[in-house]
Amino acid sequence: RSQPLVLGIESSCDETGVGIVRGTTLLTNTVSSSMDEHVRFGGVIPEIASRAHLDAFVPTLRQALAEAGVTLEDVDAIAVTSGPGLAGALMVGVCAAKALSVATGKPLYAINHLVAHVGVGLLGKNDGGAAAGAAAGAPRLPENLGALLVSGGHTEILKINSITSDVQLLGSTIDDAAGEAYDKVARILGLGYPGGPAIDRLARTGNPKAIRFPRGLSQPKYMGTAEEPGNHRYDWSFSGLKTAVARCVEQFEARGEEVPVADIAAAFQEAVVDVITSKAVLACREHGIKDVLLGGGVAANSRLRELTGQRCASAGITLHVPPLDLCTDNGAMVAALGAQLVMAGIEPSGIRFAPDSSMP
Ligand code: KG4
Ligand code: ZN
Repeated sequence: RSQPLVLGIESSCDETGVGIVRGTTLLTNTVSSSMDEHVRFGGVIPEIASRAHLDAFVPTLRQALAEAGVTLEDVDAIAVTSGPGLAGALMVGVCAAKALSVATGKPLYAINHLVAHVGVGLLGKNDGGAAAGAAAGAPRLPENLGALLVSGGHTEILKINSITSDVQLLGSTIDDAAGEAYDKVARILGLGYPGGPAIDRLARTGNPKAIRFPRGLSQPKYMGTAEEPGNHRYDWSFSGLKTAVARCVEQFEARGEEVPVADIAAAFQEAVVDVITSKAVLACREHGIKDVLLGGGVAANSRLRELTGQRCASAGITLHVPPLDLCTDNGAMVAALGAQLVMAGIEPSGIRFAPDSSMP
């Protein structure tokens, strides 16, 4: 099939996503989020997320089919996120996808969520334009594409040698994801959940130079040199930064001074964004990467977009930022990668695979 109709299902965290693509053309991207149910707990509660997926799946599927104007019989293949993510949440999407596959006889593809984040770079709207692809009408990923994925669950720099068969992990966080650090620091600063948007907003009114917070894993012993890379040359760590923010707040409180929340937010954000962009650009330069796709919920961050854009431009790297609804978790990215697998003639996964919450 040159332009397969593929249904993609995403349920790795709090978003129930069903997307439908035809080849590289996006037909619909329907998402239902349970975020409202997690807000009062200050974080995603796995059990609540799983139950919400159960409630949301069939309505989301019906809506997606209606929006795309297709039926299940029209679909050529089904694709589903099989990891990484929350085990119980993944289980709901995987079971739903297997049930659909058995009921309809359509082939099923198990999809790596992180690689799927890159798949959106191939998608064009009905007008034929591709988000990161080359000529309109025939979207292709650039050669030697890098992907910088920054969300509440992941912080990774990938090199995409082939999206269907060869994706290389260049660097990742060794502890908290960047979005997780935003959420934890927002809690320390009393800003509520999710913290990313709140810190982003408040940081605009603060002075990022008022305080200097640490850039994790940036010391020479971790970095090494291009010839002899250290253990963590392209890796990040955000847990020390979170602790530094907590100490800083405590010190102001111990002195009986008012906590300069906006300055702390701005300085924290600068530390996160500085270390993410400097290491990502370094990894790209040292691996001959000329195009970078930004993905994940933290791609909404104004300072991350700004500094990534500046540093990529200085390094001669073209930055691709898909529309935000394709950067955050969704089913269209799963369908997009599924369509690539179908078009590459790769065998379906069958229904005997299990979801893998810690899939590399
Ligand atoms: O990709 P996403 O919707 O879900 C996953 O975590 O997979 O990302 C959510 C994360 C949250 O941690 C949230 O605080 C963060 O993205 N986020 C932001 C911004 N908007 C969302 N972080 C920084 N600045 C933002 N503007
Ligand atoms: Zn994600």
